[in-house]
Amino acid sequence: MTQDELKLAVAKAAIDYVVDGEIIGVGTGSTANFFIDELGKIKHRIKGAVASSEATAERLRSHGITVFDLNEVETMPVYIDGADEINAGGAMIKGGGAALTREKIVASVAQKFVCIADGSKLVDVLGKFPLPVEVIPMSHAVVARKLAALGGEPRLRLNKNGDGQPLVTDNGCYIIDVLGLAITDPADIEDKINNIVGVVTNGLFARQGANVCLLGTADGVKKLEF
Ligand code: A5P
Repeated sequence: MTQDELKLAVAKAAIDYVVDGEIIGVGTGSTANFFIDELGKIKHRIKGAVASSEATAERLRSHGITVFDLNEVETMPVYIDGADEINAGGAMIKGGGAALTREKIVASVAQKFVCIADGSKLVDVLGKFPLPVEVIPMSHAVVARKLAALGGEPRLRLNKNGDGQPLVTDNGCYIIDVLGLAITDPADIEDKINNIVGVVTNGLFARQGANVCLLGTADGVKKLEF
């Protein structure tokens, strides 16, 4: 099976977690996009969705799904999103698509986090995937120095149009990707990085990890519960 076929399989499996008549939280990225397309087929069953990025909001609306502002929503039963890495305890690295802050905020309002991922995302130790950190633009140099002091190799993420300028997130901020961290204690690193002044948040989801992971493998969709 191709990686896209695995992503589609977990996206379809995630439909079982959609609660009729409710608002659902929806993540960002290629796996989340497969899920949004599946959600579009059953849109009559839900009240609407809260999006974790402008791109997700646009895709939800293209399917005729009502997108709610998070400030109008007190709670929601489930948040469904992909991950860049997930470990056996349900801790994740997210933010490869630069949406980590809104993802973490929307997930914090949901009662259950369902991670959907192809099997390549399951790792023993988090950190091979560079850890994204969203920062206030004026602070990127000082935050980078502090991330280096933690043992990482910080790189300011550039936009894709090749002009050498930093990528700007939906929140008007920058992303620093941190290479070379072997994250054996994800909650500790999450806290340490979030305590650096200038950091908006980082892509470690350990304090609010996944409750369920639907993992796409050649042998079918495996369900991990945490
Ligand atoms: C977006 O910022 C990320 O957190 C994504 O959820 C993550 O990068 C997974 O993306 P894919 O589903 O495209 O692998």
